[in-house]
Parts: sequence; C-alpha cells; structure tokens
Amino acid sequence: MEINDFIRKGIRDLKPYQVPGVSYSIKLDAHENPYPLPDRLRAKVEKVMANLPLNRYPDPGAVKLRQAIADYTGLDTDWITVGNGSDELIQSIMLAFGENVVYPEPTFDMYPILAKVTGLSLKGIPLGDNFCLDDEAIIQAAKENQPSLIFISSPNNPTGNSFPREKIERIIVESGALVICDEAYYEFSGESFIPWLAQYENLIILRTLSKLGLAGLRVGYMLASPSIIREINKVKLPYNLNTVSQEIAALVLTDFEPISSQIKEIVAQREEVSQCLKALPGIDSFPSRTNFILMRSNLPGADYIWSELVKAGILIKNLNREGALKDCLRVSIGTHEENAAIISALNRIVFDSEIV
Ligand SMILES: Cc1ncc(COP(=O)(O)O)c(C=O)c1O
Repeated sequence: MEINDFIRKGIRDLKPYQVPGVSYSIKLDAHENPYPLPDRLRAKVEKVMANLPLNRYPDPGAVKLRQAIADYTGLDTDWITVGNGSDELIQSIMLAFGENVVYPEPTFDMYPILAKVTGLSLKGIPLGDNFCLDDEAIIQAAKENQPSLIFISSPNNPTGNSFPREKIERIIVESGALVICDEAYYEFSGESFIPWLAQYENLIILRTLSKLGLAGLRVGYMLASPSIIREINKVKLPYNLNTVSQEIAALVLTDFEPISSQIKEIVAQREEVSQCLKALPGIDSFPSRTNFILMRSNLPGADYIWSELVKAGILIKNLNREGALKDCLRVSIGTHEENAAIISALNRIVFDSEIV
C-alpha cells in the first residue's frame, strides 16, 4: 500500500504552511499589530474570562459577536457570519460556491492554496505595471470559466496598494461571478465596499480582527446578503469559533477606541518608515495603504538583506521568487523602536555592501 495513491490530486504538491525556523527578537513578518491589548481592554478581558462557561460548547450562532459586528459595520446580523480567521471563511466560500477561482497575481497566497484544497480550478491574472488591476482580463477569465469566484484583496497583500473602485465595480457588474472583496486591511486604508452590499447581490466582503491586535484569537467575519450567508452556514463547522474568541472579539469591537488609537499610530509610523526607506540606496519601496510595506532590492538583493536582518535579530518576509515579486521583501510596521531598529539595520546593510 502506498499512501501516495490515496492523496487527492491538488493536495500532493502542496507544502504545509511553515515559518522559517530562525531566532529573532523583532518580529515584522506577519503584519500583526505590534502593540499588546490596551490596559482598559485587558482588564475587561480578565473579568470576562473568569466566568466563561468553558464546559459548554460555544454558541454556534455567535449571537453576541455578530451583534457587535453589526454595531461596528452598520449592517443587520443576518448579513453576518463569523469564521476561525477569514482563512476559514475563504475555504467555506469555496466549499459552497463556484467551480473556478480567479484572482489577480500576486495576491494573498491562501486564495490559490484553498482553491487547490477544495478541488476548484484556478486562474491568476497578472497585475500590470505598478501592480495595477487588469479588470478586463479578470472579467474575461470569469466569463470563460463559469461559475466563477473572483477574489480581490484591496488593499492587496503583499503589494500594499488599493485598486481603483471603478475597476472593482466594473468587475462586480460585468463578470457574472461572485466577487469577494477582502478588506483585511480596511482599518488602515479606510476604504470599504460595504455601501455596495445592498446594491450588488454577487458581492461578499471579508474582514479580519487579526491585523487589529487579535491575531491569536483567529476571528474573521463575512458580510453578504442573507441568501449567501445561509449557504455558508451550511458548510461551516457548527462550533467553528471558540467561546474565548467570541467573547473577547465582541468585547473589543464594542469598545474599539483604544484599538483605533493604535491603528492611527501604526498608520503614522507607516508614513515615517516609508520616508526612511525612500532615502536608502539600493532599496525601492512601494506605496502602502496597509500595515506593511513591500520593498525591492536588486542589489544587494532580497536574499542577502533578509539573512543580514536575521543576523541582526529581525524577521521580515522574504518574498523573492521568479515573476512580479523578484527580489521583493515585505516588512510589517512595528512599534517606533522596532521600526527604528530595522531602518538602522537596513542602513548598515546597504552601506556595508558593495553597492554604495
Ligand atoms: C488579504 C488577506 N486576507 C485574509 C488574511 C487572513 O486573515 P485571518 O488571520 O483572519 O485568517 C490575510 C492575512 O494575512 C490577508 O492578507
């Protein structure tokens, strides 16, 4: 018997998700919020935790959390479902809908990975110069491969830019596909597609609390018409979101001001880091509407910079691969001290290398 013979097509060539096994003191690789939960919220969390009924299953309807999301987004609760991170919701969408997944490339890796896991066919449409969206080609690909799901992260991970609203609206109107607008970075860009939900029945919006300081809780949510939510609720596991995550997420969303302050600080820091990167020879950086910045270095090169940063105890994401991300690195915005540390390390690396 060969285990290989049992592995489904599409799974065989996938690699398990891994982070590099290196030691570091500054972590800027996963676009998390670098700040701990503010004291006021931490005190509330401690109080709530003392009385959680952990002997019982979590609320399968996540009523309290969905109400908190409704208040936060201005939508009714029947337009909302929650997931164990938005990753899980992406998977649920692919389990419930479509046969083909269309997405711009490069984008969030989980779109093609989960398309393979769920057995859907996939088509990546390259972004153009300066990572601009090829709306025409996306519409064409969806029309040729019905029924399609089009995933668009705006702002986009890992490029950091937002796509023009007119292009996204054209895709929603003309593609004949279900269009998933992933707003994982909404709080850093301030741009949302929520106002379109009432108008376009084929629109789904995804959000996450991971970038807002709750990555460890794994909470994502989806906004769509009740007829779409109903189908998603058929495929999602009944107790997908644990009690602790539901309670803390609801608590944070209903007292969001302390997190808003952290987000403002991260956005201000993003602009500072961006200015500092511009001053560095050998590194090109791209405009960002997120909590990370994409940069490129032909010389001294992404691999060299990444390993020198690791030697300095700083972990960022090395995206270097053939194609649009050749020689690219992605750095999350950290605390003021962390940002100062990476800028000074990059200065040293660039000036110590042969290029200057
Ligand atoms: C565009 C996009 N969508 C979704 C996610 C995943 O979010 P979650 O942590 O809620 O699964 C990420 C995380 O990096 C992302 O960049």
